[in-house]
Amino acid sequence: METTLPYGWYTDPDVLHREQERIFRPAWQYVGHTGRLPGAGSAVGKADDTQREDRGASGTARQPGYFATQVGRTPVVVTRDRDGALRAFVNVCRHRGFTIADGEQRRETLQCPYHAWTYGLDGRLRAAPRSEEEANFPQEELGLVPIAVDTWGPFVFAHAGGEPEPLAQALGSLPAQVAELGLDVDSLVFHSRWQAEIEANWKIVCENFLECYHCQVAHPGFSEVIDVSPEAYVLSADGRLTTQHGPTRTQIPTGPLPRSQFHFLWPNLEINIFPGEPNISIGPSYPLTPERTYRFLDYFFGPDVEQTWIDDLLAFDEQVGREDADLVAGVQRGVSSGALEHGVLMGRSEQLIGHFQALTAAALAD
Ligand code: FES
Ligand SMILES: [Fe+2]
Repeated sequence: METTLPYGWYTDPDVLHREQERIFRPAWQYVGHTGRLPGAGSAVGKADDTQREDRGASGTARQPGYFATQVGRTPVVVTRDRDGALRAFVNVCRHRGFTIADGEQRRETLQCPYHAWTYGLDGRLRAAPRSEEEANFPQEELGLVPIAVDTWGPFVFAHAGGEPEPLAQALGSLPAQVAELGLDVDSLVFHSRWQAEIEANWKIVCENFLECYHCQVAHPGFSEVIDVSPEAYVLSADGRLTTQHGPTRTQIPTGPLPRSQFHFLWPNLEINIFPGEPNISIGPSYPLTPERTYRFLDYFFGPDVEQTWIDDLLAFDEQVGREDADLVAGVQRGVSSGALEHGVLMGRSEQLIGHFQALTAAALAD
């Protein structure tokens, strides 16, 4: 029988440090959506976007603006200039390291709150108070540090380490699979962000997502809707992308999507599509400490989906999320006890965990 990763890897700060360098730094990460950048007719409000409607994004008369986010541990700011150019920078002031941008703003410039150095949305340092008193102040060299940014539909990805492969290559067959299901991501409207801190190592959180062996036992509501039996529930792996397909048990769906798709893009991104009306949720899990993980999911729906359908789906998904949070916390208590060296994997039902663990181990190997 295949074994799990050593349980020490779920608690060891040195392993986490290696993971940050070897796994998260060289990966494209989902950081937010284009609706957070002002477009014609958008209503940009307060920085906290939980449960906030945001229907901007698709205008032609661009307005400048930015939103703050992070890529792994790196604070990042994504900007859109008046010319429509999308850019991303390390959100750290070149003066003495303050994180400059916060939330989302409709502004022409980024101004550091510490000593008021001011940067353009193209990253150039425009002004630094008293810089004229400095002999040879190297203003041209003190712009924000750029990082790679790209989009898939409304979804913005950034990459904070070295020379990235093209985003389209990193996404693999994901966009094609989503399109094949009948979901046009460009037509979707952002609805809200769900976020949580989970009491478990990030790998335990991901591994929980990668098998539905526990669904019948732990998610009675989910299993009523999705057929999770081994005959019906299909698992597949395609490079760094793994996918779970479950048909619906009942004829609930009024809507164009005939079945679910649950994707996972290694190392840490999940994408959920439920049957019925146009919907998707997308978001990463990030390690905060070896035993604590931050997760968020951005929910998008078709523009004409009724609020009651959305409310039902969110309530249903939150229930599943609570059930999973308890499960992974229970695993963390067990593995961090030090009582056992490792566990075992069920060859068929947990094959995607085997895939995840092989990619993870390969990235950490010398
Ligand atoms: S740290 Fe940003 S202006 Fe001083
Ligand atoms: Fe689950």
